[in-house]
Amino acid sequence: MSKEAKRVIVAGGCGFIGSNFLILMVNKYPNYQFINIDKLTYSGNQENLKQIENQSNYAFIQADIANYDFMRNIIQEGDVIVNFAAESHVDNSIKEPQIFIQTNVLGTHSILEAARQKKAGLFVQISTDEVYGSLNFGDASSKEQDVLNPSSPYSASKAAAEMICLGNIKTFKQPIIITRSSNNFGPYHFPEKVVPLFITNLIEQKKVPLYGTGKNVRDWIFVQDNCEAIDFIIHNGQVNGVYNIGGGNEITNIGLTKLILEKMGAGEESIQLVEDRKGHDLRYSLNCEKIKALGWKPRFNFDKALSLTIEWYKNNKWWWQPLKNMPGRRTS
Ligand SMILES: NC(=O)c1ccc[n+]([C@@H]2O[C@H](COP(=O)([O-])OP(=O)(O)OC[C@H]3O[C@@H](n4cnc5c(N)ncnc54)[C@H](O)[C@@H]3O)[C@@H](O)[C@H]2O)c1
Repeated sequence: MSKEAKRVIVAGGCGFIGSNFLILMVNKYPNYQFINIDKLTYSGNQENLKQIENQSNYAFIQADIANYDFMRNIIQEGDVIVNFAAESHVDNSIKEPQIFIQTNVLGTHSILEAARQKKAGLFVQISTDEVYGSLNFGDASSKEQDVLNPSSPYSASKAAAEMICLGNIKTFKQPIIITRSSNNFGPYHFPEKVVPLFITNLIEQKKVPLYGTGKNVRDWIFVQDNCEAIDFIIHNGQVNGVYNIGGGNEITNIGLTKLILEKMGAGEESIQLVEDRKGHDLRYSLNCEKIKALGWKPRFNFDKALSLTIEWYKNNKWWWQPLKNMPGRRTS
């Protein structure tokens, strides 16, 4: 896609990855117009966007992607759409799956259909490595053409959204790209997720609740790297392609926990083992040769990016402390 002036609709731009993406893109492309559409659920926070909220190429509209008529009114011919909007926390999907189907499946269908009807341009669906399901130790990393085998209501809803996208590519030739990234970490991450939960608990001199024995393996990518990869894909990706985006940093949850403890000067007595998550996938691992062949690779060193992230939470208590006290959320 060329870098000529364009309108970019970012759905879910008040969340963790969406806000990091907007901060990157609004500054990098002053000739593009960015419209952030977000329902402002518990994980959507306009405070994330303070540094760009007054820029002339940025606007915010509070709306639900599942509201088809509203989406049709907002989307214009030729718009690029990047859909981050989702319910994103696996634990919540085990307790209350319905909203995951409503937003991740029906919501994606609604904004995708509005985009198709209004002859929008490229639609980028932000998906996850969790759609591949669990790998064993020693299994080859997941490739884009592998069969999807989700394990949780969250990953099933994300896989369902992808299937709707794939159906529209074949039937309507709608221009769509799907990105499947591994676990992100970095600033503005809601403190229910493991990295910000553990860092903020340690800042507050609390224990860190580790699921099971902590043997599960995840691949981690610094959020800035994922956002740069999405930008790269928008401009260089093959339309109607699927791209894995991983950091190449596989580590067990216990290994990650010990690293955070060490960096924060805490001992292993701060670990509190808790009952394992239901259906907890053992391992995710992404083969990222496809995007690397196009010329993208992660820039950030995992260890340094984790230290940067810890510093950010230490220096930005104003951002996360009100979220830790949000009723009905497991944030300690
Ligand atoms: N965080 C990760 O590690 C990770 C990894 C891979 C993929 N993803 C995917 O990336 C996307 C963003 O994840 P995140 O971690 O930033 O999530 P997040 O929970 O921090 O943000 C989600 C955002 O979507 C908004 N939203 C929710 N429902 C909406 C609706 N119906 N209409 C409009 N807005 C709505 C929320 O208000 C929030 O701002 C998700 O699609 C997720 O599946 C996340």
